[in-house]
Amino acid sequence: MNVLLTGATGFLGSHLVPELVKEGCKVTCLLRPQNKKDAVSRLRESLENTCSDQAMVEGIFPHITVLEGDIVQDRLGLEEKVYCLLRDETDHILHCAASTSFSPDVEKEQWKSNVGGTENLVRLALEAGPSVGFHYVGTAYVAGDRDGVVYENELDVGQGFYNGYEKSKCFAEKMLHRYSLEKGLNLTVYRPSIIVGDSSTGRTVLFNGMYLFVRFLQVAKQSFNETDSRGRVKVPIRLLGNPEVTKNFVHIDYVVEMIKAIFTHPEAHGKTYHITHDNPPTLGFIREVILDLIGVTDTQLVGQESFNMEPATDLEDLLRQQINFYAPYLQKEPSFDTSNIKSAIPPGQCPECPPMDRKALETLFSYAVKSKWGRKKVSQETVPVQLPGQTARQGKGR
Ligand SMILES: NC(=O)c1ccc[n+]([C@@H]2O[C@H](COP(=O)([O-])OP(=O)(O)OC[C@H]3O[C@@H](n4cnc5c(N)ncnc54)[C@H](OP(=O)(O)O)[C@@H]3O)[C@@H](O)[C@H]2O)c1
Repeated sequence: MNVLLTGATGFLGSHLVPELVKEGCKVTCLLRPQNKKDAVSRLRESLENTCSDQAMVEGIFPHITVLEGDIVQDRLGLEEKVYCLLRDETDHILHCAASTSFSPDVEKEQWKSNVGGTENLVRLALEAGPSVGFHYVGTAYVAGDRDGVVYENELDVGQGFYNGYEKSKCFAEKMLHRYSLEKGLNLTVYRPSIIVGDSSTGRTVLFNGMYLFVRFLQVAKQSFNETDSRGRVKVPIRLLGNPEVTKNFVHIDYVVEMIKAIFTHPEAHGKTYHITHDNPPTLGFIREVILDLIGVTDTQLVGQESFNMEPATDLEDLLRQQINFYAPYLQKEPSFDTSNIKSAIPPGQCPECPPMDRKALETLFSYAVKSKWGRKKVSQETVPVQLPGQTARQGKGR
C-alpha cells in the first residue's frame, strides 16, 4: 500500500511514519523545503526524537521516499513528472500537516496551509480517482466554544471559535465533507483532542498547554522560600480557571494506535472519529498533581469574581501572558461522544485507551521536568521525577 503522508516532521506525523512502515506501507513523506536543512535531514531529526534508537531510524529510510514540496503551492510545488507519478501511485493520502499555532499573527498564513493546502491535496486525490482514500487529521476542537456533548457527525452548528487555528480546521473539514458529497472524495476524518506524551514514558516533543503551567511553577518556585508543614513551597498565585472543567488529554501512542486501527480497516473508512478520552481529568485534579510534583502549594484556580477582589501581582500577570492563548480553554470544555470509534473496530482489535489518572499525569509532567523540556535525552523507562533542590531566594510574589 502506497501512502502519501504530510506533516511527517511534526509531533504526530513523526510517530505515524514508523507505524505505517511496520504495517508494510511504502510511505512518501512530503516535506516543505527549508533553507537551512535538506528534507531528509529534517525528517531524520524528527524520527530520532520519536524512535527508540538509531537503528530503528535507519531501518525506516529504505521504506520511505522523501519529497520536497509544499501543500500550499499549486500541484504541491512538485515538478509535473513527479506530481503525476505521485498521483498514479498513491493508494491513500494521510494528511497530517497543519499550521497549529494559536497566535493571531499567523492567521493569514495558517488559512493558506490549513484550508488551501488541504484543498490542493484533495485535487490530487480527485485526479487520482475515487479509490484513493483521503485520511484527514482534524481536531476535536472544531467544536470551538461549544459545551455539552459533541457528536462525531456534527461540525458547523453555529459555534464560535477561540482562535484562527480552530476556525481554519473547521472550515477545512467542512470543505472536505462537501468534496466527499459532491465529488465522491473517499474521506475519513480523525479528530484527536489534546495530544500529550507517551503513556508509559511520558515522552513528547511538544511542551505547550498545561506543560507551560508546570514550567512556570517550576521557575516561580525559586522566588519563594516559605514552606508549609509538608515542605512544599508557598507560591501564592491565582490563575483564572474553573477547577470543574475537564481537559481532554489523549496519549500520543493511543492516538497513533487508533489512527492505525481505522486506517488499516477499510470497512471503517468513510466516517468521522473522535480520538478523545472518555474520562478526562478536571483542571482541579491536574492542578493538584502538578503542585504535588513540583513541591508547591497555595497556587489556586479562581473565578473572575474572586480574581477581581485583589489586583493581579506581577507574577500573575506574567503567567497570564505566558498562557494567554490557552485562557479560554480553562473556562469550559465539551465532552466528546465516541460512538463511531466504539463501533468501527471489531471487538478485541480496538486499542484500549490508557487511563488519564494521577500516575499518568505524573509520568507526563515528570518527563517534561526530567528531560529539561526536551533539551536532554531521557532513557525510555518510566521517568520518576527528581525534584530540583529548592533555591532559597527572597520571595517576590504578592
Ligand atoms: N498536537 C495536538 O495536540 C493535536 C490535537 C488535535 C489535532 N491535531 C492535528 O494533528 C495534526 C498534526 O499536529 P502536530 O501536533 O503533529 O503538529 P506539529 O508538530 O506542529 O506539526 C505540523 C506539521 O505540519 C507541517 N506543515 C505545516 N504547514 C505546512 C505546509 N504549508 N506545507 C507542508 N507541511 C506543513 C509541519 O512541517 P514543517 O516541519 O515544515 O514545519 C509539521 O510537519 C494537525 O493536523 C493538527 O491539527 C494535533
